[in-house]
Parts: sequence; C-alpha cells; structure tokens
Amino acid sequence: EEGLHPTKYPWEHTKIYKTFDHQALRRGFQVYREVCASCHSLKRIPFRSLVGNIMTADEAKALAEENEYDTEPNDEGEIEQRPGKLSDYLPSPYKNDEAARAANNGALPPDLSLITKARHGGVDYIFALLTGYPEEPPAGATVMEGLNFNPYFPGTGIAMARVLYDGLVEYEDKTPATTSQMAKDVVEFLNWAAEPEADNRKLMGWKVMAVTGFLFGLSVWVKRYKWSPIK
Ligand code: HEM
Repeated sequence: EEGLHPTKYPWEHTKIYKTFDHQALRRGFQVYREVCASCHSLKRIPFRSLVGNIMTADEAKALAEENEYDTEPNDEGEIEQRPGKLSDYLPSPYKNDEAARAANNGALPPDLSLITKARHGGVDYIFALLTGYPEEPPAGATVMEGLNFNPYFPGTGIAMARVLYDGLVEYEDKTPATTSQMAKDVVEFLNWAAEPEADNRKLMGWKVMAVTGFLFGLSVWVKRYKWSPIK
C-alpha cells in the first residue's frame, strides 16, 4: 500500500548549476548527531569524509576520538579498545540488528547512509515523513498499538514517532531551528551522505559540455573552411 504522495520541493542542492550548501550540511549533521544518531546508524560514512565539507580536520579528529573502536586482535587474539581516528566510520547506536529491534519495539531503524536513494520519493519523501505527523490520526484511521500515524509512510503506521519539534536543537549559526528547517537540513545532509560525489559530477558535466561544445564548434568551422572553395 502506497503512502500519500510527498510534495515536490525546489531543492537548491539538486539543481544542475548548484552545489551542496556546506552551512546547511553542517546544520544537518548536527541534527543527525543530536536527534537521529541515537537510533539510526550512518555506517558508510567515515569521519574523514566530513573534513572540508562539514568541519575542519581538527574538529573531525576530535569528534572521532570521542568514540572507542576495537583494535585488531593481537598475537594472543585479544581485542582492546582504542580512540577513533579519521579513517574510522561513524559509530552505530546498537551492537547489531537484534539489539536495535529490542530497543524499538521490534522495528528496525534503517541505516541512513543511502536512505535518500533507497526510498521512493527520495528527499521529498523523507522531508514529508519527518514533518508529516499530524497531532492526531484522522477520524476513522486505525493505528496499531505501538505505531504512529503518518500518511506518507506506506501503510501509514510507522514505528518511529515524531522526532522533530521547533527549537529542538540550537544551531551555532543562529538559524531558527524550526521543525521544517531541521528536516530540510538533515535531508540535505543525508543526500550528501548518499551522494558525496554529486558536486564533482556536476562540475565534470559542465567541463564535458564546455570541451565537447568547443570541439563541435571547431568541427563546424573546419568543415566550412575545407568546403569553401567548392561551394
Ligand atoms: C525509520 C529518518 C530519528 C526510529 C526511519 C526512516 C527514515 C528515518 C527515513 C525510514 C522510513 C521508511 O522506511 O520509509 C529519521 C531521521 C531522524 C530519525 C532523519 C532524525 C531527524 C529517529 C529516532 C528514532 C527512530 C530518534 C528512535 C527513537 C526509527 C524506527 C524506524 C525508523 C524504529 C522504523 C520504522 C518502521 O519501519 O516502522 N527513520 N529518523 N528514528 N526510525 Fe527514524
């Protein structure tokens, strides 16, 4: 069963002549860390990829060091703990899927690394989902025990409750943290996480257009030049 169709928004960062807004990515990462990270992993993202996009190398190093990782087993097969490094991946909130389900009433909060590509409707869907919880389910709707009504979720009963509320985080750049602002920022951030190469791809596209455009113009000129004595 399909959910309600999300509104299509004119996202700036998906335009062919625009790039990700790094200030928005930084805000979105803050929302991920302060709100989503307690339930959702982002396990394909290493700390190093935050550098230069979302924070400085020093900031990323400090953030990595806040977490502990297993060492490689030594000769005796013992595994110890060491502080995180830039090459480590963002830590997951749960040890494994069983622990994740146990903490969420049996439902599994999906890894968010590729979620903007994995879900039908992409960025529009996730924005709609995060901002689409009504105060109460509409009259006549049935919601199973432990689920929450959200018209955008296929089936409308979702294990995740509403998580974003006005003023939940405090942005360091003083952007008012409204529900929709946080949803927009975290969705843009998640789109960056899923497609960190998007900006380079667009730049390469423009370069290809410039070079092929020039070569095409040149070939037209050469053709006219060569044929001019005959015509
Ligand atoms: C599902 C995003 C915070 C628990 C999901 C889904 C997305 C998402 C995109 C997938 C929906 C689908 O399958 O179509 C986010 C974002 C968050 C956030 C961006 C922060 C802003 C949380 C928190 C919790 C949580 C804090 C736990 C308290 C879950 C669970 C599911 C889920 C259990 C599975 C729902 C189901 O299959 O019924 N979330 N989430 N989420 N989320 Fe979150």
